[in-house]
Amino acid sequence: MVLLKEKLEKIDIDDIKKDVKIGIIGAGYVGLVTAAGLAYKGYNVLIVEKDKEKLKKIKQGICPFYEPDLQKYLLDSIELNRLSFRENIFDLVNECRYIFVCVGTPIKDDGTYDMYYLDIVAKEIANSLKNDFKVITIRSTVPPGTGRWFKKAIIRYRRGLKANFEVVSMPEFLREGNAIYDFFNPSRIIIGSDNYDIAKEVSELYSDFNSPILIVSLEEAEIIKLASNAFLATKISFINSIANLSEAFEANIENIRLGIGLDPRIGMDFLKAGIGFGGSCLPKDLTALISVFNNYQINPILFEAVKIINEERIEIFINKVKNALWNIKNKILTVWGVSFKANTDDIRESPALKIIPRLSQEGAIINVYDPKGLHNFQNYIQKNYPHFSNNIKLIENIYESTVNSSAILITNDWDEYKKANYYNIYELMETPIIIDGRNILNPLEIKEIGFEYYSIGNNIK
Ligand code: UDX
Repeated sequence: MVLLKEKLEKIDIDDIKKDVKIGIIGAGYVGLVTAAGLAYKGYNVLIVEKDKEKLKKIKQGICPFYEPDLQKYLLDSIELNRLSFRENIFDLVNECRYIFVCVGTPIKDDGTYDMYYLDIVAKEIANSLKNDFKVITIRSTVPPGTGRWFKKAIIRYRRGLKANFEVVSMPEFLREGNAIYDFFNPSRIIIGSDNYDIAKEVSELYSDFNSPILIVSLEEAEIIKLASNAFLATKISFINSIANLSEAFEANIENIRLGIGLDPRIGMDFLKAGIGFGGSCLPKDLTALISVFNNYQINPILFEAVKIINEERIEIFINKVKNALWNIKNKILTVWGVSFKANTDDIRESPALKIIPRLSQEGAIINVYDPKGLHNFQNYIQKNYPHFSNNIKLIENIYESTVNSSAILITNDWDEYKKANYYNIYELMETPIIIDGRNILNPLEIKEIGFEYYSIGNNIK
């Protein structure tokens, strides 16, 4: 196997990209993956990050969150001087023709996107512009119309001074846990701009990616991103609805999924029934999309239903646990999974954040295990439910988490759970019951060992 570093050095010899400087504003999830990926591709990447603690870590090549392989790419890029840091946006804008804006766009309590950080960036860029032309690419997820507002804001902040720039909207489709793979193998590259020549110029930065490139308008790019996430969310709520139907009969949703998904028009992906979608994107973008619909007096009923169905998953799962156990008071329940899915330590909007306090409130003692998410979860519980912290125990070993347990509740889908030795676990538990909220185990094998096994959408005895 060729080491990453050797590959990088090789690119360094025969590549002219190192003369192209790309500035990244915001080293969050999107910014950091984009920075490390573009540096690997041979570009000279500069980063500005306001959070001093985070920046300190990144400068040492330490990734501030868990993402497979990212740290490796980060370290090597820094060592080879492909990735460097600037103190402020002014320096970054001065040095780079291409500026990628990757700041956070959280949503407010009313469900609309908070444009505060983007507005600050627009102002700082406006104050940094000189004569040479700048291409400003927005990579943060934003509502339609943002690119145009961003342009307008920069012009306003220039207060009549010449503003030599163009704005491009280039949404990202990275999945957490697969971000490096997704960066190098994007299903499509969407570039939105009012200016075709500039869009083309940006597309050339990605010319050696083996992916279709679509040049569209600013607003089209923004809508494509929101619509993509809404479609994925719709697929999940669709299959979860069918899982409810499946449970009402002697049927297994996994067979139904196969039967539906084999139709190439439908496909198998994102048809995995479970306890609902979480994460930093799908729930937030869906809520924000509903706000946009409302704002323009368009009926958002489809997306409201998708959201409601997703929220109901929590109650359905909790009822499943209670029905399986009869009584949960003073029982030890083992929860495997606090991150919103496997291969990430991100707990944002993770279903477990709602499930664990609910069970705890009803008197259960919760042993929590997760391969990477425990640290973030500990902070979350201390901040939001300090009164439960005695009854919620974080355990760093999967087997230890099952000792004297009345049931294992599987709430995300790490491979480690599939590979565990269930013969050992059977011996450790008080009552060998598994309630699999992600349908990751093989029911026949698990039942064969002696477990009582409950999953989602499966009512086969
Ligand atoms: C998503 C999009 O996939 C990505 O393109 C976009 O850029 C950011 O948002 P991510 O948030 O990393 O990525 O997670 P994703 O893999 O899409 O999963 C979202 C949630 O849906 C997870 O909680 C996952 O467990 C759940 N899910 C996914 C299901 O319940 N069933 C499925 O079939 C697929």
